[in-house]
Amino acid sequence: MAPMTRNRADNPDSKPTAELQGLYYGQRASAGLLITEGSQVSKEAVGYINTPGIHSQEQVAGWKEVVDKVHAEGGTIYIQLWHVGRMSHPDFHDGALPLAPSAINPKAEVYTAEGLKDTVTPKEMTQEDIDRTVADFQQAAKNSVAAGFDGVEIHSSNGYLFHQFFNATSNQRTDAYGGSRENRARFFFEVLEAVKKEIPYSKIGARFNPSLHGMFGMEMDEETIPTFEYIIDRLNDYNLAYIHLSQPFTDVSDISYAVTDIAQHFRPIYKGTLMINVGFDAEKANKVIEDGQADLVSFGKLYISNPDLVERFEADAALEDWDKDTFYTPGKKGYTDYPTLKREEKV
Ligand SMILES: Cc1cc2nc3c(=O)[nH]c(=O)nc-3n(C[C@H](O)[C@H](O)[C@H](O)COP(=O)(O)O)c2cc1C
Repeated sequence: MAPMTRNRADNPDSKPTAELQGLYYGQRASAGLLITEGSQVSKEAVGYINTPGIHSQEQVAGWKEVVDKVHAEGGTIYIQLWHVGRMSHPDFHDGALPLAPSAINPKAEVYTAEGLKDTVTPKEMTQEDIDRTVADFQQAAKNSVAAGFDGVEIHSSNGYLFHQFFNATSNQRTDAYGGSRENRARFFFEVLEAVKKEIPYSKIGARFNPSLHGMFGMEMDEETIPTFEYIIDRLNDYNLAYIHLSQPFTDVSDISYAVTDIAQHFRPIYKGTLMINVGFDAEKANKVIEDGQADLVSFGKLYISNPDLVERFEADAALEDWDKDTFYTPGKKGYTDYPTLKREEKV
């Protein structure tokens, strides 16, 4: 199950609860691996309303109840560790600017308590900001272990903080974190090595969306794919649980420097476990694995509306449609009320 933000941590502690998130993830525990929604590693990492964190004791206690529920159902669950960087708004930070590699406005919109708002020009991170953020990821990894998670996925994808560092347009730094590919990847590898102090590489995944273009403030350029080639090749030395790649979110077929088939392109580069995502159903998933282009496939939206997706695939049963209007709304509706084959009527 792919990580999906569901904005249901609508309580003062921004914590998940056994009643809501425990039920939701527990219902989906037959997935080979559940990857949670993005969970902010610190207060300053947040950029969406009602997303859960993994930095306070209350949040750790909340997640522990979720993990216990999934484990009781025989499931395996990783938490996605998240920092949105510039994809945020001063409303989330008592008026302070969001952090980013460079002071460049992504010119996007973010969901705040007062609805959609335009992003602002963020603050260029100082060395102190970078060091603190590395420590925040390490502490979040420690908290994840305390909550009982089976592993963590670093959200280095979808236009958020690490992706902002990778991209030569959003990262115009002139210090050790900008310029060359190696420099633009430095912050990510520092975080990876800090997280490893709390949990072995074999329980860490990392997510990338190399051909993300025209979304989340990201634009590709000639440097983009070579940068991801560099990062993914270098990850061969890290024995990670997996890398989790996304096929392009938008049509990039007329962009000469974009890669349209991510699995095909990166499979020869990466020797470890490669998970692929975006737009798969059972048939396409079996094909990409049979073709030897991926080891694992993750499903996103199908998992919102089919808690027993595995059983449905096995039985070749009909799939439920998802209700897009309830993706980011509070409460049980469109969250824990989808039917299973065993329990046809909605609860
Ligand atoms: C409601 C929703 C929330 C999402 N939140 C996240 C997230 O927190 N972290 C992440 O890496 N991707 C997130 N994604 C992207 C999904 O993980 C996945 O890449 C996307 O849904 C495409 O896969 P699919 O075609 O199987 O749905 C989200 C997608 C949806 C629909």
